[in-house]
Amino acid sequence: MNSFVLKGNVLFSENLDRIGAYPDHFLVCEDGLCRGVFRELPERYALLPVTDYGDNLIIPGLVDLHIHAPQYAYRGMGMDLELMDWLQQQAFLEEAKYADEAYANRAYSMFAEQMKKSATTRASIFATQHRGATEILMDLLEETGLVTCVGKINMDQDAPDDLIEPSADISAYNTIGWINHTSGKYQRTKPILTPRFIPSCTKQLLEKLREVRRTYDLPVQSHLSENPGEVALVKQLFPEAAFYGHCYDRYDLFGRKPESEFTGETIMAHCVYSTDEEIRLLKQNGVYVAHCPASNMNLSSGIAPIRMYLELGLRVGLGSDVAGGQTESIFRAMTDAIQVSKLYWRLVDKSSKQLIFDEVFYLATRGGGAFFGKVGSFEDGYEFDALVLNDAGLPHPQKLNLHQRLERFAYLSADSDGIVSKYVAGKRIL
Ligand code: GUN
Ligand code: FE
Repeated sequence: MNSFVLKGNVLFSENLDRIGAYPDHFLVCEDGLCRGVFRELPERYALLPVTDYGDNLIIPGLVDLHIHAPQYAYRGMGMDLELMDWLQQQAFLEEAKYADEAYANRAYSMFAEQMKKSATTRASIFATQHRGATEILMDLLEETGLVTCVGKINMDQDAPDDLIEPSADISAYNTIGWINHTSGKYQRTKPILTPRFIPSCTKQLLEKLREVRRTYDLPVQSHLSENPGEVALVKQLFPEAAFYGHCYDRYDLFGRKPESEFTGETIMAHCVYSTDEEIRLLKQNGVYVAHCPASNMNLSSGIAPIRMYLELGLRVGLGSDVAGGQTESIFRAMTDAIQVSKLYWRLVDKSSKQLIFDEVFYLATRGGGAFFGKVGSFEDGYEFDALVLNDAGLPHPQKLNLHQRLERFAYLSADSDGIVSKYVAGKRIL
């Protein structure tokens, strides 16, 4: 059923620093899994239907490890504030509106429609603390065909009354109700445990979330060491913690512990100000770092030392962090990641080599894809996620090779322009 062949100019990451390019090749999907890229179609696949995409580019789908669905409504506005003021004056006010399910349905429909058209095939998504609105979002995302993890946020302090949950017990109770109602309900949409960040959570709530994670063995997502104001506040709230990530780790909300049986993975967004100890624990516990360069610029947070994280062997993917980031485009996140790495090299650390295009393409496909399993490559056995890109709208007088065409597409295409087809987990959704 989910077996077919695509023909076109195929590119995918073969290594962290090398994109392989295969002009006019066949890409085989069998039962939703990739079977490889071939110059001649092997005899055993001769009966499969072939879609010929001509001169278009075919690449693995892009992965967004960190995006806030309710913030999509105000993307591109209120960008003159730093993180903690932005949260109080923008994010929390907008998110409070999702108590109204009619509003949530309207806003989330727009978000889901754009995600479907975008280059993103898989995403890990924050909703709000409202269970009803979060389930509306999950229903809408399931219809798009994307594969996503969606989190009902937990927050029981330091926000307006109409946004925080009245107590740790109520927050945990609502979370358990939501998990019970959504786990296994969908094929492509899964719940993920989502303490907003340390300043939003009392210790009682973190303790409750530890129990919830123990019981349901869910993955976790949150924010970590994003902005100096936030890091200082966490120090004040948790003077006993050795470092920011320690606050999560004390409650088993920080990746896999060597001695534990949990399989649930963890994504921590930003990691701009992680200390040596925190970096060691990120690595030891296999935590995914979601690098969100646009957000780090817009909210005046800083530049994450991604070159160092790659050299140390940390797991790293990219995030749009809408609406800290103004667009959901992961192509944009790729080029932003290169650009901020150049500033980091120039202004902060001359020994930190800038990221190159092949590396950020890896982060956007295989790097973040690993969070979802065997995802982000066209090698045999990977889940079949693919984008078909038409760059004819970007004219050029000279002859270009496939690598040049892909790089140019990433830098020049606006939002979803030029994405002509999209396949997720073996299914064509666009
Ligand atoms: N830290 C806590 N909440 C948020 C949020 O909504 N966006 C960003 N960028 N950082 C956060
Ligand atoms: Fe965020």
